[in-house]
Amino acid sequence: MVDPRLLLASVFLIIVNNCYVYGRPLTFIEQQVQLCINQDIKRQPVIIDTDTDVDDLWAIHYLLNVPTVDVLAITTVGDGYSKPFYSGSNVLTFLDLIGCSNGVGVGYGVNLPLMSSGYVIPSSLLDAIDSYMTSPTCLNQSANIFLQPSPFGSIELIKLSLKYSKIPVDILVLGTMTNIATAISEDRSIISKIGTLYFSGGQFKSINSYTSLVPNLTVATYPESEETSDGSPNAYLDILALQRVGMSGIKNIVAMPLITQDTMLINLTQLNETLKRLNIQLKPFVLSFISSFVKCTSPNQTESYLKWWDNSAAQFMVQMQTNNSQGFCLRTQKVKSHYILSADSHQFYGQGMIDVETFLPNAHGLVNYTICTEANSDIFLAEFLNKISSEKLYSCERQYNHRFDIKLQQCMLKFENAEQQLNVAKQTSFPKAYVSFDLFIFFVCYLSSR
Ligand SMILES: *[C@@H]1O[C@H](CO)[C@@H](O)[C@H](O)[C@H]1NC(C)=O
Ligand SMILES: *[C@@H]1O[C@H](CO)[C@@H](O)[C@H](O)[C@H]1NC(C)=O
Ligand SMILES: *[C@@H]1O[C@H](CO)[C@@H](O)[C@H](O)[C@H]1NC(C)=O
Ligand SMILES: *[C@@H]1O[C@H](CO)[C@@H](O)[C@H](O)[C@H]1NC(C)=O
Ligand SMILES: *[C@@H]1O[C@H](CO)[C@@H](O)[C@H](O)[C@H]1NC(C)=O
Ligand SMILES: *[C@@H]1O[C@H](CO)[C@@H](O)[C@H](O)[C@H]1NC(C)=O
Repeated sequence: MVDPRLLLASVFLIIVNNCYVYGRPLTFIEQQVQLCINQDIKRQPVIIDTDTDVDDLWAIHYLLNVPTVDVLAITTVGDGYSKPFYSGSNVLTFLDLIGCSNGVGVGYGVNLPLMSSGYVIPSSLLDAIDSYMTSPTCLNQSANIFLQPSPFGSIELIKLSLKYSKIPVDILVLGTMTNIATAISEDRSIISKIGTLYFSGGQFKSINSYTSLVPNLTVATYPESEETSDGSPNAYLDILALQRVGMSGIKNIVAMPLITQDTMLINLTQLNETLKRLNIQLKPFVLSFISSFVKCTSPNQTESYLKWWDNSAAQFMVQMQTNNSQGFCLRTQKVKSHYILSADSHQFYGQGMIDVETFLPNAHGLVNYTICTEANSDIFLAEFLNKISSEKLYSCERQYNHRFDIKLQQCMLKFENAEQQLNVAKQTSFPKAYVSFDLFIFFVCYLSSR
């Protein structure tokens, strides 16, 4: 005798499998996993994907203190501005130093681009970034070596978090798109669960400003030995990943372009004045963390060489999520961009082009982006300092056992047995009925979809 619950669940599975090939709603068992996770959906779930440069850690610190955001997971990528060994461990070290150890799952991700321009980040710069917290000549902190990453790797964590979140998840990409492109390539059904994808960087110039590109193309030099002129590293370090993500069908893509970020100077005089004006006291570690970037990573450069890069992308995300008309981004623009992925594009390799439809009306593969085109650094800095000084750490409130990735693991284990039993029942008890009923449902779905 077949358990009626199993029968019901099977009917549900059949309907789900046949009627919703693209949306792929959860099966009965998967719904049990989702309920078991017990996600708080009063706040906007966000996955932060990061290459763990110093400005990425500023962005993370900011977002952990934003009450409307729930950071489900932080996923790291090892092909940007940190070496693979440090991409994950430096996030763990930083979380520990700000009082969020074990508060958010950190997944280790992909270390090689799907395709890069060939540009290699100088290892002296990578060394300075990787040892920013621990070097005696920089912040001289000791790292707790007992901190552990998530039981899931980045790709799994992205796929499973999107699948099991009760509501769409926003993704903030602060490094290359390698992790996101890999996750999407492996499981396209997660795309419908992405709310908005936010990207730090990219260039969005009119195609008309590339005089040699319209109508003439110059021949590429590959690999590139220098940074692409005016290019955005997060784009050209893995241009194929960016192209795949752009073309994947994600409904909303928002970017904080490098051109706008470049107006957001890290000006230590302005920083001091703002702290005084707002009467904000930062912990010594936090103050040195945000004010030592030039000193520790680029001592031969002037102060204005470095910018509030990734934390401005994070703040732009919050401004968009909360529909805040008083935010630091003063102007946005909707553009259709095309990322050049061609051997003929030379230094434009990996540049976003806007106005493509005007100049090349038959061009295909244009991607809609909303970008920030003008920003106010005073408003930005006040909001940033307010949040990182608050020490609320909203996304770190859960105990380890109630953390999203740990619940995910527990709940999947718990319901896996039930699923296995269901599969055995399906195969042994009523295969013929199952197949004919399957055909019947397929027929019904087929008719109703016409
Ligand atoms: C670094 O910190 C250690 C203590 O952890 C201290 O002994 C040492 O003097 C510090 N070095 C510098 C350069 O501040
Ligand atoms: C394009 O190339 C052709 C042949 O090399 C040249 O005659 C023409 O002036 C170029 N046009 C532009 C806009 O550079
Ligand atoms: C900012 O203030 C700190 C002390 O709080 C001081 O050491 C530093 O020199 C100041 N920097 C600038 C550029 O004024
Ligand atoms: C830095 O900030 C101060 C005070 O806000 C301002 O007077 C100065 O022009 C700024 N420097 C640069 C390079 O923007
Ligand atoms: C955002 O705010 C504006 C007014 O400030 C309003 O017209 C618009 O409907 C809001 N949009 C959303 C999505 O809440
Ligand atoms: C881009 O936006 C336009 C409306 O401005 C819409 O018609 C088009 O379908 C969108 N393209 C994609 C690929 O979503």
